[in-house]
Amino acid sequence: MGVKMTQDELKKMVGLAALPFIKPGMKIGLGTGSTVKHLVDGLGKRMREEGLQVTCVTTSSITTRQANELGIPLVGLDDVDHLDLTIDGADQVDENFNGIKGGGGSMLWEKIVNTASDQNIWIVDESKLTERIGSFGVPVEIVPYGASHVFRRLEQKGLKPTWRLAKDSDQLYRTDENNVIIDVHPGPIDDVNALDQELINMVGVVEHGLFIQRINDIIIGREQGPETIHV
Ligand code: 5RP
Repeated sequence: MGVKMTQDELKKMVGLAALPFIKPGMKIGLGTGSTVKHLVDGLGKRMREEGLQVTCVTTSSITTRQANELGIPLVGLDDVDHLDLTIDGADQVDENFNGIKGGGGSMLWEKIVNTASDQNIWIVDESKLTERIGSFGVPVEIVPYGASHVFRRLEQKGLKPTWRLAKDSDQLYRTDENNVIIDVHPGPIDDVNALDQELINMVGVVEHGLFIQRINDIIIGREQGPETIHV
């Protein structure tokens, strides 16, 4: 009997499996997270070894830092009129390929980049798949001004909000836009569209981590190998 692969090995499997989707000359959006980190490492290698040339935009300062370290040239999203392809991770994905993103706190830029992109691919290990999303908290990005009022409104709606704190700190986490994040914990969601509308229509909310019908393909990391599904 073979040794079971670790979650990080599955993440690496899908990160590398996404590389062939990247073709010379493309304008590429690079997502954020530990799965995407493997993709970006692989992209850096292809650029060095094969002389592959692409134009990249990132979805977070974290991915920007990694791309800079690898010598991957970056442009701003406003420097391109569209992106050909964006590859990103996700925290949970349901049967209809709706997902929760923002475990890493970057869902605002991720959703903007996703919207600017002709094709979107998610790379996830199989542990992210679930019948109904929502057992993983849904991150809600809030402007800092009056944030405690938004927190109370979320509480009143029964969404069990918690403040996101910076790592190893009792200070509030700050996004790349210097906003704060409240994670809500609805449990398995019956109606993702209703929650999407409820959250986005709250004054003070900038964006949230529900990504509904936003991908074209998904690559799932399974023990037996990567599975690509066209959505
Ligand atoms: C960051 C994200 C990530 O894509 C998501 O959290 C998945 O991360 P990981 O690949 O580390 O499991 O949405 O905002």
